[in-house]
Amino acid sequence: MSIGDETRKIVIAIDGPAASGKSTTARLLARKLGYIYIDTGAMYRSVTLKALEGGLLEHLRENPDAIESLLDNVDIAFDGDRVFLDGRDVTDAIRENRVSRHVSFISSLKPVRDALKQMQRNMGGRRGVVMDGRDIGTVVFPDAELKVFLIADVSERARRRYAELLQKSGDNNSVPSLEELEQEILQRDRSDAARTHAPLKKHEDAVEVDTSSLTIAEQVALVYNLALEKTAV
Ligand code: DC
Repeated sequence: MSIGDETRKIVIAIDGPAASGKSTTARLLARKLGYIYIDTGAMYRSVTLKALEGGLLEHLRENPDAIESLLDNVDIAFDGDRVFLDGRDVTDAIRENRVSRHVSFISSLKPVRDALKQMQRNMGGRRGVVMDGRDIGTVVFPDAELKVFLIADVSERARRRYAELLQKSGDNNSVPSLEELEQEILQRDRSDAARTHAPLKKHEDAVEVDTSSLTIAEQVALVYNLALEKTAV
């Protein structure tokens, strides 16, 4: 059976720690289902990039309210796999390490969470969407028909991030070592899980999938089958 006329459109929330396979799974799953894919991490990264470029980051630790004016004037849009910040393609820029280093701090700020949650709800309101992040099943769409929580061993997650960065840069001198990546991932997991507002947490209804020893095809097939069960009428 495939997703066709005899199915209803649902919201699929895919949460989990950094580099657990969320975006790869969510993107391919959305393609298979004919759904829209929303990478909410890219939205937090875009706000972080804007704060960095506007020279705001240094002031935010003492004066977090300064983020409000940025949020009043931010435009984040997706076109296929590309991400646009205020009309500019930032798909590659938001993956740079300078952004990764600060994104946990930016995403811990309440005004940022409130603004992006509203944008995400608007984007997914008509259903037929796969959204990945940290709080999609718990906060953004607690009524998502399918909630998945992806996990993987930290060594495997660092290896994946390393391969991804290497493929992008083509030069292993500019890529952090596996140990550095592992530390960076652990640090980000800790801050994402410890923050007060919308921390990284598995919803009690979420299906936990450990992707450590799964191929991409296997993890997509597994979540696709879960989606079929939910969409069949
Ligand atoms: O998925 P990612 O690594 O691109 O996400 C970057 C950061 O954004 C992550 O460390 C925490 C934050 N984030 C969040 O707080 N809530 C989300 N729904 C998605 C990402």
